[in-house]
Amino acid sequence: MKNAIHQKNIVLGVCGGIAAYKSVELLRLMTKKGAGVRVMMTPHACEFVGPMTFAALSGKPVCTDLFDSRNTDASIRHIEWAQDAHAVVIAPATANLLGKYANGTADDALSTFLLAVTCPVILCPSMNSNMYLSPPVQRNLETLRRDGHTVLEPGAGELACGTSGPGRLPEPEQILDRLMACLSPKDLTGKRVLVTAGPTQEPIDPVRFISNPSSGKMGYAIARAAEYRGAEVVLVSGPSALPDPLNVKTVRIRTAKEMAEAVFAHLDETDIVIKSAAVSDYRPKEVAEHKIKKGEAETHMILEQNEDILKSIGQRKKHQFLVGFAAETQSLRDNASAKLEKKNLDMIVGNIVIQPGSGFGSDTNRVTLFYRGGTQEALEQMDKDTVAHIILDRVMERIPPK
Ligand code: CTP
Repeated sequence: MKNAIHQKNIVLGVCGGIAAYKSVELLRLMTKKGAGVRVMMTPHACEFVGPMTFAALSGKPVCTDLFDSRNTDASIRHIEWAQDAHAVVIAPATANLLGKYANGTADDALSTFLLAVTCPVILCPSMNSNMYLSPPVQRNLETLRRDGHTVLEPGAGELACGTSGPGRLPEPEQILDRLMACLSPKDLTGKRVLVTAGPTQEPIDPVRFISNPSSGKMGYAIARAAEYRGAEVVLVSGPSALPDPLNVKTVRIRTAKEMAEAVFAHLDETDIVIKSAAVSDYRPKEVAEHKIKKGEAETHMILEQNEDILKSIGQRKKHQFLVGFAAETQSLRDNASAKLEKKNLDMIVGNIVIQPGSGFGSDTNRVTLFYRGGTQEALEQMDKDTVAHIILDRVMERIPPK
């Protein structure tokens, strides 16, 4: 499958809060993922950001008023938009809007539209922390949760009003993430997925290590996609700048040894293992206690082999479906097929890591999937999120139903 909002109709409702500027970025992210987004603004929102900005970025007229004289097609917008929408996101959602929605008040375009909506609604409250924590706002949020809507907890920190506490609008990436989760099919519900990602670092001394340029992007994309689709996910990650995926148990490790420990601690309660980490094959035999000083013109270091974690899982596995990765610079088919056999895998994802748009650090990947029995499937170059979904699709096609 593609990402869950591709070609979906989303309505972005914007209220009058200082965080309204962040919704511009949210709109951009949603359209980049292929969603058709229509924007509805409260009159107060227009005081913070001009409707023209949203119109230009969405490529569609913005609704600010139920009785807009420019609405020449005589359509009843609040009903038509509600019927067409696959999901609605209100960001920022002010105390006023939450109060109106919780109590069924319809006195402007956005609050009237919301009463006609039957698709999932994600509410992103943002306001001063005392306002957010006030009993009426908390009561209204509770009502809205009970009505079946998703409420994203605001972040804590310094707010525009100078105070500090809960009330910050979550970052646009996080809102997009929850929208994806909301619209994804839940075909992995009940499945426990273990993903490894990123590089490992093998220390030489306190300030140096052996590693590789893996960013973790592929593994994190798989962990997120599995979580969106309803799986219970454990992500064992080497050093990576990426944030912990929401709703995923993320175990941060440094060395191959630590990765092995974390993986084996979770293996028994896992149904699907996807090992996308770029594990260092060797580690220095001796780790110096202090920084090694410059000495002779040439020097040597003795390396010893790390455990091949994937191979060990292949030897121990019982019911688990096991997916490995093969990072190659040549002879992809031969090398990947050999690893599939040698490590007793069910599937291996091979890629040539030195071609542009593929491999370490890139946002895209071009992979070939190799299956048991000698079949293979070459995929086009695509973003790593889409690769992640296709890997999960193929795994699910091959797992026998319970
Ligand atoms: N892997 C592992 N433990 C290791 C080395 C690799 O679990 N010590 C896993 C990787 O996570 C990946 C797969 O094995 O899923 C293949 O890794 P790769 O680096 O492509 O191959 P290697 O098996 O290390 O073989 P080579 O370096 O000879 O290509």
